[in-house]
Amino acid sequence: ATDPRIKQVSEALVRHLHAFVREIRPTQKEWEYGIDFLTRTGHMCDDKRQEFILLSDALGVSMLVDAINHPVPDGATETTVLGPFFVQAAPEKQNGDDISGPMEGDPMIVTGSVSTADGKPLAGAVVDVWHSDNDGYYDVQQLDEIGELAMRARFHTDANGRFHFWSIKPAAYPIPHDGPVGEMLEAQGRHPWRPAHVHFMISAPGFEQLVTHVFVAGDKYLDSDVVFGVKDSLIHDFVRCPPGRAPDGRMVDNAYYHLT
Ligand code: DHB
Ligand code: FE
Repeated sequence: ATDPRIKQVSEALVRHLHAFVREIRPTQKEWEYGIDFLTRTGHMCDDKRQEFILLSDALGVSMLVDAINHPVPDGATETTVLGPFFVQAAPEKQNGDDISGPMEGDPMIVTGSVSTADGKPLAGAVVDVWHSDNDGYYDVQQLDEIGELAMRARFHTDANGRFHFWSIKPAAYPIPHDGPVGEMLEAQGRHPWRPAHVHFMISAPGFEQLVTHVFVAGDKYLDSDVVFGVKDSLIHDFVRCPPGRAPDGRMVDNAYYHLT
């Protein structure tokens, strides 16, 4: 039986593909290159990474799908891409814990709160966080060297909807660019970098899940994120604080960054 949705999708696909080919009038050689590009993209996916998701990200398609599926209610935090480095079973941590594990870098405290779109604090919300190290690598990209998950954790908000933790300041990083997507970026004259950010996935029973990042203000790639993930409302100051009493009451011997 023909599924009406599949019929609609495939008719639109054929219409747009034909219009595309009519517009660019590929030579036979160009057509072969296109087939080869997609074939190599698929083979890359067989190995370990999902090159098709990377392609979707680098063409801005992932952000478009996100925008269609997650209209942001007034007052709510905006969404952005999930990315490939989320891990289902992140270590459970307590508010105030340091999640940097064996990683070294500039100390950072992150303080935040979860509330409903109309501003009521949400206690017991699940807050998953993950971010890169000072060199722009996630734990899962260097598990052989560090031997454990780090710079990622799952927190629960307290009675006032608040959470906080210590870690190290993340850095900008390039998306994997040694495959077909890297070849495409090169041909387009684009760099492969994402500005520094911390990922958040926030869930609470009865509420839609929020997938977002907070970006570090001042990063040089904020205007040219390779996956088009930046929204102005998601850029926050990382305030450099002198040694002394930190926002969680702890005495700190070194300068640190505070992200709110
Ligand atoms: C992220 C990384 C990617 O390689 C990508 O395509 C999209 C997002 C990220 O971790 O933020
Ligand atoms: Fe990321």
